Amino acid sequence: MARPLPEIVRIEWPPGHETPSPATDAALDRAADVLRRGGLVAIPTETVYGLAADALDEAAVEGIFRAKGRPATNPLIVHVADVAMARSLAAPWPEMAERIAAALWPGPVTVVVPKAPSIPDIVTAGGLTVALRCPAHPLARRLIERSGIPLAAPSANRSEQVSPTTAHHVLESLGSKVGLILDGGPCERGIESTVIDCTVTPPRILRPGPLTRSDLEAAVGGPVIWPAADDAAATGPARSPGIRARHYCPKTALELPADPAARVQAHLAAGRRVGWLVLVADERARALAGSRDLVAVPMPTDPAAYARQLYATLHALDQRQLDRIVADPPPADEAWRAVADRLSRAAEPGADNA
Ligand code: TXA
Ligand code: MG
Repeated sequence: MARPLPEIVRIEWPPGHETPSPATDAALDRAADVLRRGGLVAIPTETVYGLAADALDEAAVEGIFRAKGRPATNPLIVHVADVAMARSLAAPWPEMAERIAAALWPGPVTVVVPKAPSIPDIVTAGGLTVALRCPAHPLARRLIERSGIPLAAPSANRSEQVSPTTAHHVLESLGSKVGLILDGGPCERGIESTVIDCTVTPPRILRPGPLTRSDLEAAVGGPVIWPAADDAAATGPARSPGIRARHYCPKTALELPADPAARVQAHLAAGRRVGWLVLVADERARALAGSRDLVAVPMPTDPAAYARQLYATLHALDQRQLDRIVADPPPADEAWRAVADRLSRAAEPGADNA
């Protein structure tokens, strides 16, 4: 018998109110109950939606890997309500992590630290370090606080698909594999947190994200380094196993060509239907814009706004029966680094020979 589709429960915390509505707290308590019994709940965070389970319950965490089809070699992020909870899960809690947490938590940065023995091996893929993050979304934090449960939560999508930034995206990707989805509205940041390794000196960024290298350098009061160039392409055991080149892929092949207008024109001439993430609306882009086979999406020229919209745009274009998605390459400066990273990972390596 087919399993029923998940229940989607809207949760809100209207601005100006000291606490969420009683209905929201009741929904959070129900979610806490599901988590206590070893179940899975999809939760909103400020970055992307997470698929959460009790991080200290090995069988519950196994459920996350099963639902996502995620390889057991890819460790999970554990979400905490505050720095005190983070300290209790680390052994020891490094000074660099303390500085980052003090300056930037709650927020979209994940620190990799030595793990406490209480964390089951399945969470860390057998490794001796654990990734910890205190989310800025107040409802995610309230759930962790009210339940007292640290939440292991990867992005709430099938492995290798685009991360969800709305409750509807979670439903589309995971369907009946999750029982309860808490709908906290669209995610404010739209791409996954910055991940930084605090077990090395100087600390090293493993995944670029909403907080930049300069944000992190200001927080630690010293240098922070980027990943080695070969990390992203690593196929063997990498320092951060989930950070492989091909990830975050839309179903429609995505290309990031040097001359996007020429590429789009070639696709149209070959009778292909194309989606185009337009960053530079030059004359050639405007000339093609009238074509019946082209869905041109003007993208924000501010990197944070672009990031907020990126996955939702890819999810929407995936519904349009297109043959290709072409993206204008983003600027090379640091503010665009996370967007550039996600676009290049979404690009299909073999799709260049259209
Ligand atoms: O914004 C986010 O970080 C979202 C929300 C839900 O919080 N979560 C997320 O989780 O993106 P996930 O599982 O899709 O990505 C976690 C990343 C992976 O690249 C994984 O390899 C890395 O963090 N990671 C987890 N534990 C690690 C560890 N101990 N050492 C190095 N990298 C680790
Ligand atoms: Mg993910």
